[in-house]
Amino acid sequence: PLLAMEQEDAIRQELGSLHGIPLFKSFIEGWPQVKAFQARPDDLLISTYPKSGTTWLSEIMDMIYHDGDVEKCRRDAIYNRVPFLEMKVPKGPSGVEQLENTPSPRLVKTHLPVQLLPTSFWEKDCKIIYMARNPKDVVISYYYFHHMAKIHPDPGTKAEFLENFMAGKVAYGSWYDHVRGWWEKKQERMLYLFYEDMKKDPRREVQKILHFLGKELEEGTVERILHHTSFQEMKKNPAANYETMLPTMMDHSVSPFLRKGISGDWKNHFTVAQNERFDKHYQEHMAGSDLHFQME
Ligand code: A3P
Repeated sequence: PLLAMEQEDAIRQELGSLHGIPLFKSFIEGWPQVKAFQARPDDLLISTYPKSGTTWLSEIMDMIYHDGDVEKCRRDAIYNRVPFLEMKVPKGPSGVEQLENTPSPRLVKTHLPVQLLPTSFWEKDCKIIYMARNPKDVVISYYYFHHMAKIHPDPGTKAEFLENFMAGKVAYGSWYDHVRGWWEKKQERMLYLFYEDMKKDPRREVQKILHFLGKELEEGTVERILHHTSFQEMKKNPAANYETMLPTMMDHSVSPFLRKGISGDWKNHFTVAQNERFDKHYQEHMAGSDLHFQME
């Protein structure tokens, strides 16, 4: 057991700094290729802070792109169908390499803060969908994700992780800067969505996406997309649930990738004192913004 633990821990990475943003050292090594990435005009970028519903939105987008054909959307794992732009690990192709081998129209996933997005996406005027989730649920989801996804540094206790998250000392840095940065860039070619809205009324949100894409789908097709991308369906779908990843990278026995999939789970984790402190911190860091979150 000791040997196994050492092996598992060996892949955990300390975070380096990419233009002031904490990030995995292996990702930073691949940065020159990401910075020089050549977007294509018909690329669609899915941008999120980690744990905000990236995989959910990705599955929805792939289903929309394939007119609700479930079988086509089982052709490969979600992390291959929607390559992760800045991903670079010692073994295997980088996100950029994967994307270069992906036929158009491509779906591209990123967690980069807006100021680090490769300029090519702006130059080519690519469509962008950003999805944000309330920070209390993000921090809890991120905490469990640190345990199961072994690339992350050891998260410490929940209380310690909460402090690090509030201070922006986690991969991709400050949640506040991320959601606000993308919100301020909001323009015609960008759709800004919320996880909480998607939970409450997925049909309305899918319609928003279709409108944004200028695409129409039959009611039955929309129905199929909603069913296929529900939490229960995605949880049992090997092409969507990340269970095909090497167990040394992700250990679902520690915590499954599709963990709870609800809004407000933070209530099961925050103490009253932590919640008060968090609310105060939140108000300070969101002051002056017209961006608002539903905490459940
Ligand atoms: P929880 O850990 O709160 O369950 P990301 O894909 O950005 O890493 O986000 C992962 C979070 O989205 C996890 O949150 C996961 O369960 C949730 N999620 C994934 N698919 C979902 C779906 N179909 N419906 C609701 N939540 C989903």
